[in-house]
Amino acid sequence: GVKIVTIGGGSSYTPELVEGFIKRFDSLPVKELWLVDILAGKEKLDIVAGLARRMVKKAGIPMEIHTTLDRREALEGADFVTTQLRVGGLSARIKDERIPLSHGILGQETNGAGGLFKGMRTIPVIIDICKDMEELCPKAWLINFTNPVGMVMEGIVKHTNFRKIIGLCNVPIGMHKAIADLMDRKMEEVEVTFGGLNHMVFATKVVIDGVDVTKEVIKKWADQTVKNIKGIVWEPDFLEALGVLPCSYHRYYYMTKEYLAEAMEKLKEHKVRAEFVKEVEDKLFEIYKDPNLCEKPKLLEERGGAYYSDAACSLIDSIYNDRGDIQVVNTVNYINSDNHKAIQNFEVNEVIEASCKITKDGAVPVEIGELPKAVNGLIQQIKSFEIIGSDAAVSGDKKEALLALMINPLVMSQETAKIVLDELLEAHKDYLPQF
Ligand code: NAD
Ligand code: G6P
Ligand code: MN
Repeated sequence: GVKIVTIGGGSSYTPELVEGFIKRFDSLPVKELWLVDILAGKEKLDIVAGLARRMVKKAGIPMEIHTTLDRREALEGADFVTTQLRVGGLSARIKDERIPLSHGILGQETNGAGGLFKGMRTIPVIIDICKDMEELCPKAWLINFTNPVGMVMEGIVKHTNFRKIIGLCNVPIGMHKAIADLMDRKMEEVEVTFGGLNHMVFATKVVIDGVDVTKEVIKKWADQTVKNIKGIVWEPDFLEALGVLPCSYHRYYYMTKEYLAEAMEKLKEHKVRAEFVKEVEDKLFEIYKDPNLCEKPKLLEERGGAYYSDAACSLIDSIYNDRGDIQVVNTVNYINSDNHKAIQNFEVNEVIEASCKITKDGAVPVEIGELPKAVNGLIQQIKSFEIIGSDAAVSGDKKEALLALMINPLVMSQETAKIVLDELLEAHKDYLPQF
């Protein structure tokens, strides 16, 4: 049987994952699921584990659910490790969103100053997990769901020798599903190629019945978004000229003024996204406590992570069964030993989010070619931000953190960068021992 370890097991998303493993038990027999958390998350961990046990019992599946606060105990002999932790919890996210906004710039979980600080809190923890894995379960794969996925992946690839890591986001699978719905087809009937960066990914090509229908889908794409981002409608002429489908997160860059204005309104009402999420989470945990509940509740759909379990469980299933199918993940831009690149715009050792072939040896990107000239400036800027942000996370050098902020397109001001840097360093000092 398969042993899975989920770090950050007290997350409200865990029931999604359990549902995914239950559905796939025939091909992916998960015998042990270890949910790992820290003392601060113990109450959530116990509630989630209770629900998980009721779910597997109802499904009649022999999957043991273990909980522990001792990560090393759990990692011993694991086959797959998933990370869905949030260093500093939602209260840290509230600061990431509120402090930048209070100085007139966008603060967001994975973008701008908020994204940098989430990255700097998270990368050292993920590096420690990789070290533990090398020692305790060297054959295991790490499926990293912890944001900011692009910066975290750069941190591991650039600053460690650990290579059994794959970064995962639910945005591409959500786009694939949305495209299928728009075309009145099942997902399996629609072939979509993705290329770009995490939270900056593009659908570059859509094929149905052997016919390239990308242009047709672009015409229908204008109002598609995810739960956590308001769907201000894209200008159809812009999308047509662009020639590829942007993801929801691109709106922060192409409509910065609009999203800043919206966020400022929310700030007045005391409702930055993290505060809204906190309310949903409190309600969710009340529901999870119900001893009669044996399935994932509908309210979880209010969270941005829809289809997360489908993405994570399919990925694990394909590695375990050596399927060789195509899934969208974050990995290096490297196709083979000739230093052949998947996306021409990036260096061969840079992390991309792209359609990849998944086998027992992990993920290898398919050949995407060149992303349009029109997006090249922005994607290079964000790639630089990810790399310099990950350097700062490792070095704890304040100058490097300032550099990351200064080159981020959402920061826009030297004066603001300096103020926001000082305030966030102070606000998060308990979780930034490297500074
Ligand atoms: P959450 O606030 O519920 O945190 C999950 C758990 O992590 C908590 O129970 C917390 O106690 C625990 N934790 C904190 N520090 C830890 C540590 N050092 N070791 C082990 N556990 C620790 O978070 P959430 O809203 O459920 O999200 C979890 C993570 O998944 C976040 O990083 C979020 O950004 C990410 N996420 C990613 C995607 C994606 O597309 N990749 C989608 C949704 C969420
Ligand atoms: C999307 C992204 C995730 C992000 C989430 C936020 O699904 O892919 O990376 O964490 O939204 O959702 P939330 O409900 O926490 O705001
Ligand atoms: Mn994501």
